[in-house]
Amino acid sequence: MAKIQSKNHNDFCPQALFLYGTYKEDKTPDFGLFCWFSYTWTQTDNGTGMGVMACIGTDKLTKDLIRKNGMFSANLVTEDILPLADYYGIVNGRKVPDKMKYMPTVEKGVVLDVPTIAECPVAWSFASIKKFICVKKAMFIFVPSWALR
Ligand SMILES: Cc1cc2nc3c(=O)[nH]c(=O)nc-3n(C[C@H](O)[C@H](O)[C@H](O)COP(=O)(O)O)c2cc1C
Repeated sequence: MAKIQSKNHNDFCPQALFLYGTYKEDKTPDFGLFCWFSYTWTQTDNGTGMGVMACIGTDKLTKDLIRKNGMFSANLVTEDILPLADYYGIVNGRKVPDKMKYMPTVEKGVVLDVPTIAECPVAWSFASIKKFICVKKAMFIFVPSWALR
């Protein structure tokens, strides 16, 4: 088949969307929208192979709170929750203190002290994040499989 010429863009890069949940200092939740989230292979920090990798770019509240708490949840976005996810993806928690005036149903994680979203059927919790690698401002978090809950 004849190939077409095209500029590089993201159209052929389907990605799942997750809402990362973290607790603020006052124990109220913050949620941000994230898609740079992939499986990886890691044998550092007692990793036995499969793990996940999250990339967080420029400064945002989620990044601050993951650094501080060392844990977060990842809640798979559903069709029903998409409008809220869109809002969480464009409003910066650092700059807008009342960002969380629109809230889903929040439940404490079953295993870890992280906020999870009841409306999302899939929610992971991440603990003991062992590795932060910063390339310029981006933070890459490697979570070995033993730290996935
Ligand atoms: C569709 C979509 C996907 C996003 N994925 C990421 C991502 O993977 N990494 C990232 O650093 N920011 C990502 N963002 C930006 C954050 O969601 C945004 O900065 C948000 O305001 C962070 O909220 P917070 O300040 O409460 O942490 C994405 C935004 C959208 C709309």
